[in-house]
Formats: sequence, structure tokens, C-alpha cells
Amino acid sequence: MPMENIGEAVLRRARPEDAADFARLAIESSPGFFPALFGTHAAAVLREFFRHRGHVLSHEHTLVAEVGGRVAGMALAYDFRRRVVRELRTGLLVATHLPLRILRLATFLVRAQRTLGRLQRDEYYLSNIAVHTDFRGRGLGTRLLREVESSARRSGCRRVVLDAERDNEKAIRLYTRLGYSVIERLPVLRLAGRSFEFLRMSREVVRGRA
Ligand SMILES: CC(C)(COP(=O)(O)OP(=O)(O)OC[C@H]1O[C@@H](n2cnc3c(N)ncnc32)[C@H](O)[C@@H]1OP(=O)(O)O)[C@@H](O)C(=O)NCCC(=O)NCCS
Repeated sequence: MPMENIGEAVLRRARPEDAADFARLAIESSPGFFPALFGTHAAAVLREFFRHRGHVLSHEHTLVAEVGGRVAGMALAYDFRRRVVRELRTGLLVATHLPLRILRLATFLVRAQRTLGRLQRDEYYLSNIAVHTDFRGRGLGTRLLREVESSARRSGCRRVVLDAERDNEKAIRLYTRLGYSVIERLPVLRLAGRSFEFLRMSREVVRGRA
């Protein structure tokens, strides 16, 4: 296991060339969900989508943490503005790249839009966060999350919201330790014969505003 000092981790905006690392980490952040959504070639789909702009899985919304020149972690997050346009563009990408899946996915995406990733005014959405196994438990997840909160403040948002899979105890413990609380249990989502249960968690990031 590499022992580079996490204190020397560099946080930077992702670039299209980070696609392979992004796809690997995104699947680690939701190992059941992305394959259920995009099929057995989920990693290839994520790599392709990541290179495009203007939709919810784009490099333009992603922050990466580099340690010793290696991508050690990532966080994908964006604000409430233009969410609908970005989701429509994601749907368009699915239709272009996965024409055989679009019918099956359409119903799911419409349902999911009302639950997963739903955003109100002033909210900033943490869609995915993951740290490579070699670098976990050393504060990198905390740094990425705090940086997402700074971005939320800079874009004028009042709170960060996220949807954690109910059985992801490790992530939920991290969020709770950092001041997030569960505000809602989302309706069960079914896809590809599987059920997904998410908890919506949230934290106010602007002090002094109720
Ligand atoms: C969840 C995840 C992103 C956390 O990343 P991480 O880098 O391990 O996070 P941190 O190191 O900041 O915190 C993890 C634990 O290490 C502890 N820790 C942090 N720095 C430490 C240090 N220097 N020494 C010892 N322990 C430390 C933290 O206190 C925390 O403890 P906790 O589990 O009791 O809360 C990571 O486990 C992961 O990628 N999981 C798979 C993907 C995933 O589930 N994503 C979330 C989807 S909702």
C-alpha cells in the first residue's frame, strides 16, 4: 500500500483524461447501481459520458484528489441550476450510446428524477464520492467533502444534499461525523431486478442562515 502523505494530496478539477480513474471510482461509489443502470459495460459508458460536457456525469462537475501523481479519489457534485437541462442531456447521451436500453431506462429515469438527485433552490448535490482503497481512512474523503462544501458556498448554495445507499454504513458514518443528518428515506427504486434504498442526507453550509 502506498504511504504517500495525504496532507500532500492535490485537489483539482477533473479533466477528460481522468475518465478511466473516474469510471473505476464511480463504480466503487455505487457498485450495484451503475451496472444496473448501464449494464455490464458500465465502466466504458461512464468513461465515454465523462468526456462530454453539460450533463450530470461530466468531468466539468468532478473534483479529483491526486496523491503522488495518482488519482486517489473523486467527488462529483453540482448545484441546482440547470439541473433539468443537464439531466435531459444525460438522457440524450443514454439514447445515443445505449439505444437498446433507453426504453427500459426511460421509466426508471423519470421516476428517479423525482427522488434521487432531486434538488431544490439553493441546494448543491453531492452525486458521488469515492476514495481508492489504497488511500482510505486517512482523511481524503473528509477533504473532498469539505471542498464540495466550499464550492457550494461559492456558488451561493445554502446546503449540500446527497443520497446514500441505506446499507453503506461506512459512508453514512463519515457524513454523520461531518455534520450531515438524514432528512428523508427515499422510495425504493427498482432496476434490473434489484431494489435500491437511499437515504437523503443534508447539511447546511451557510452559517447564520436558517
Ligand atoms: C466513503 C469514503 C469516500 C470515505 O473516504 P476516506 O478517505 O476513507 O474518508 P476519511 O479517511 O476522511 O474518513 C474515514 C475514516 O477514517 C478516519 N480517519 C481520517 N483520517 C484519519 C487518519 N489520519 N488516521 C486515522 N483515521 C483517520 C475518519 O475518522 C473516518 O472514521 P469513521 O469511519 O469512523 O468516520 C470511502 O470509504 C469510499 O470510497 N468508499 C467507497 C465508495 C462509497 O461508498 N462512496 C459513498 C457513496 S454514498
